[in-house]
Amino acid sequence: MKTQPQIIIAIDGYSSTGKSSFAKLIAERLGYIHLDSGALYRAVTLYGLRKGVIGGGKIDEAALVALLPGIEVSQRPDTYLGEENVEGLIRQMEVSSYVSPVSAIAKVRNFVDDNLHRMAAGGGVVMDGRDIGTTVFPNAELKIFMTADDLVRAMRRYKETTDPGTTFIDVLNNLRDRDRRDSTREVSPLRKASDAIVLDNTCMTMEDEMAWLTDLLNSKYGFSL
Ligand code: DC
Repeated sequence: MKTQPQIIIAIDGYSSTGKSSFAKLIAERLGYIHLDSGALYRAVTLYGLRKGVIGGGKIDEAALVALLPGIEVSQRPDTYLGEENVEGLIRQMEVSSYVSPVSAIAKVRNFVDDNLHRMAAGGGVVMDGRDIGTTVFPNAELKIFMTADDLVRAMRRYKETTDPGTTFIDVLNNLRDRDRRDSTREVSPLRKASDAIVLDNTCMTMEDEMAWLTDLLNSKYGFSL
């Protein structure tokens, strides 16, 4: 069997464009590991909520930063805090409503970036987030920037919501708010790397996306998927 090249694939883009599902499937097909950087920001947020340094609409930044050295976060591939699988808990609305401002804290970003570099050390990685191709792995061999109409994205996220009482409008407002915050923050904002290839999946299925990627990997990188 032909061994695939062990490259780094960076997938960035707006909230709920399906970055993680796409990245996960690519990793499965290539035998790569998948790292979801947003999940690490979510895990830090959950940790802060539990410790009481986040809550009541406020974030005690200094207290959260002081907790960082004690946070053990990993992806196996589910997200773990220490030995606890928190993959479901980090997707709840309470975490979603604080994660953008938490991810704007420079020291939190350094903490997450260090963990991502540690986990990606062996290569053969598909990593998704907002600043992977611009900041975390600026030399990634393949960079994809994902976008889609925001009503379509909100509907996808709404269908996954397990919180009772969360309406479509709540999800849409949270998504628009996070897009705005993520794109306008000072530290490492969401933006397309100049060498990233845009994938607008408003009208695409996952199969269409895989076909698009297969063509790209075959023609540009010599993969045989
Ligand atoms: O991909 P997600 O929605 O689970 O990410 C959660 C939040 O984390 C998102 O609002 C922005 C932030 N994030 C970031 O700032 N940089 C990344 N590389 C990944 C996520």
